[in-house]
Amino acid sequence: MNTKVWKVDKYVDNLENNPQVVDAAQFLQKNEVVALPTETVYGLGGNAESDVAVEKIFAAKGRPSDNPLIIHIGDKQQLNAFVTEIPEKAAVLMDAFWPGPLTIIFKKKNGVLSEKATAGLGSVGVRMPDHPVALALLKKCQLPIAAPSANSSGKPSPTKAQHVIEDLDGKIAGVLDGGSTGVGVESTVLDCTEDIPVILRPGGVTKEHLEAVVGKVHLDAALLDEDSKPKAPGMKYQHYAPNAPLYLVNGSPSFMRRLIAEKQKEGLRVGVLATEETVEAYPSDVTIACGKRSELESVATALYDTLRQFNQEKVDIIYSEMFPNTGVGHAIMNRLQKAAGNKIISE
Ligand code: TXA
Ligand code: MG
Repeated sequence: MNTKVWKVDKYVDNLENNPQVVDAAQFLQKNEVVALPTETVYGLGGNAESDVAVEKIFAAKGRPSDNPLIIHIGDKQQLNAFVTEIPEKAAVLMDAFWPGPLTIIFKKKNGVLSEKATAGLGSVGVRMPDHPVALALLKKCQLPIAAPSANSSGKPSPTKAQHVIEDLDGKIAGVLDGGSTGVGVESTVLDCTEDIPVILRPGGVTKEHLEAVVGKVHLDAALLDEDSKPKAPGMKYQHYAPNAPLYLVNGSPSFMRRLIAEKQKEGLRVGVLATEETVEAYPSDVTIACGKRSELESVATALYDTLRQFNQEKVDIIYSEMFPNTGVGHAIMNRLQKAAGNKIISE
């Protein structure tokens, strides 16, 4: 299959009638799959009502079939077609955070969405992305769009159209290239089917943001203790991994320098995920500044691109600095721990 690349300037007016967006919307209506930029990461979109389209998404990514997809909408009215109810707290959260990086889990109305999209569960995760190109596409095609991150299963999520091409060229109908995404880590997944909402995956909207709007919010047990079974099926898989083994280093710069020297003595090419503040501090073979520690949002934005850059640099081992577990740091540490398969070296 020849994968089309549609370049779109997200700042132009009337994106809904932009020829590239119109072309991509027609592919979606024909049950083909198309990658699209969102404010978090690129998604691989397909008609959520069609088994044919949803099967193409799973096949292109090599995604396990028990992992449900998030449904993207451009208009809140679309929800009523496929959820049984909108709980009061969910309505308040939608008003506060949509469009934006918050996925809300609702009880599902049967018979509307493809069962494959929701992996046969009785619930469905929905979000309205805050990206002009995504919103224009959703409005143009008038369909609920199932869209997981547009990477091969297990790889870091794509934050640039080029990342999508690296993973999925020849496997999908096209990619709408709207430039780099902003937030950089995926949406927060929040289960609102219970009285007190539960965060299943930390993301762009933090626990602190949610609690300011809706009061007490719980964390899924699996986010606190490795041995609990996560409620979001996707959270049990190793994910985001670069090609070389990644270790998180919990210690001082001099401890990091010692680790680097040991591996270099063994003849290995050592990469370090650092920050702008520390990029000069290490004698590693490849040191990449992943944003600024003083602005954790910038670390989130750069994270997946940084992990992918280490693949290009062909390092043998990667050491990463660690980040505080608060605010968006919670999502950053969650993704880094998964990428590292939980390998942490403490001083
Ligand atoms: O920011 C994002 O959310 C991106 C962009 C493209 O929108 N999408 C994304 O999708 O990250 P994906 O498929 O990579 O991750 C979806 C996560 C998985 O962990 C999945 O198990 C969980 O959401 N999920 C989806 N529906 C669920 C449900 N009904 N119950 C529990 N977890 C669900
Ligand atoms: Mg993903």
